[in-house]
Amino acid sequence: MVKPSSVLDRVLVLEMVRVTEAAAIACSELIGRGDEKAADAAAVEAMRKAFDELYMDGTVVIGEGERDEAPMLYIGEKVGGAPGKGPKIDIALDPLEGTTITAKAGPNALAVLAAGEAGCLLNAPDVYMDKIAVGPGYPEGIIDLTKSPRENVEAVAKAKGVAPHEIIVCVLDRPRHEKMIAELREVGCGVMLIPDGDVAGVIATTNPETTIDIYMGSGGAPEGVLACAALRCVGGQFKGRLLFRNDDERARARKWGIADLDKIYDLCDLAKGDCIFAATGVTNGSLLGGVKRLPGGRLTTESVVMRASSGTVRWVKGEHRIHGNAD
Ligand code: FBP
Repeated sequence: MVKPSSVLDRVLVLEMVRVTEAAAIACSELIGRGDEKAADAAAVEAMRKAFDELYMDGTVVIGEGERDEAPMLYIGEKVGGAPGKGPKIDIALDPLEGTTITAKAGPNALAVLAAGEAGCLLNAPDVYMDKIAVGPGYPEGIIDLTKSPRENVEAVAKAKGVAPHEIIVCVLDRPRHEKMIAELREVGCGVMLIPDGDVAGVIATTNPETTIDIYMGSGGAPEGVLACAALRCVGGQFKGRLLFRNDDERARARKWGIADLDKIYDLCDLAKGDCIFAATGVTNGSLLGGVKRLPGGRLTTESVVMRASSGTVRWVKGEHRIHGNAD
């Protein structure tokens, strides 16, 4: 049982949806317009503004980059309408997870955030992370990053009571995954290749409707923290290990207080204690429908907000006036 945090006020949990809604609505105008930067900027600006409405003393621990790289929602930036007074909350965010997806009007772009008591969310550096995840219902320790893709598939298949070739693995479609994909093909299992968006990819393992059993491969470490916050609420297992391409990235990690660069992270190392996960669909996806424009100047949103201590998952459908705030 996860102890409920007194800092994560129940009202605040629901308020978090307003923040992801605002980001999703703002960037939805740019779906399919081929401009990743503009879509991201619209989501960032709207999310930053929406945070100001919340009674909290928030600090961005995972954001748009470091202070000198990002004008808004940079790591360390204070957000919330009650600095020094409201509850002290750490925020991990990605106002637009899937910038390329949005530019190309592909599936699974999300506005997403996680929140926890100060110190609960890993201050993950912006490097790659090797990830493996499964949904709930498997014996603890079923997935293991030190084992091969084949061994992991065989273990999950055995626990599920199916043959290895019946397992579906979700993988980011990247040249760096060629060897892993070849090994999975040799096992004979299904490989669902996604163009982007591994937060949705990891969460998809928790929903049998997606048919995805395992998520495997490397993606952004910050996205790993966001996905773990969701798994903490709905169940599932995750292992992650930071991947460094050069000394600069290693130095970055040390700067964020990471001493053991080879550590294999568990779910609770990335998101511990009570935490909240909130997301709004930007484009249609396996988790949420995207923003849809209706005749008569209105639009609809689909969001989800979850909390680890209660395990409550709320699906929120919103209807909004276009150009109004998400309120
Ligand atoms: P952005 O929204 O920042 O473009 O991230 C999309 C994404 O696909 C993430 O979901 C994933 O973790 C990461 O990019 C993978 O990085 P890369 O595109 O370099 O393989």
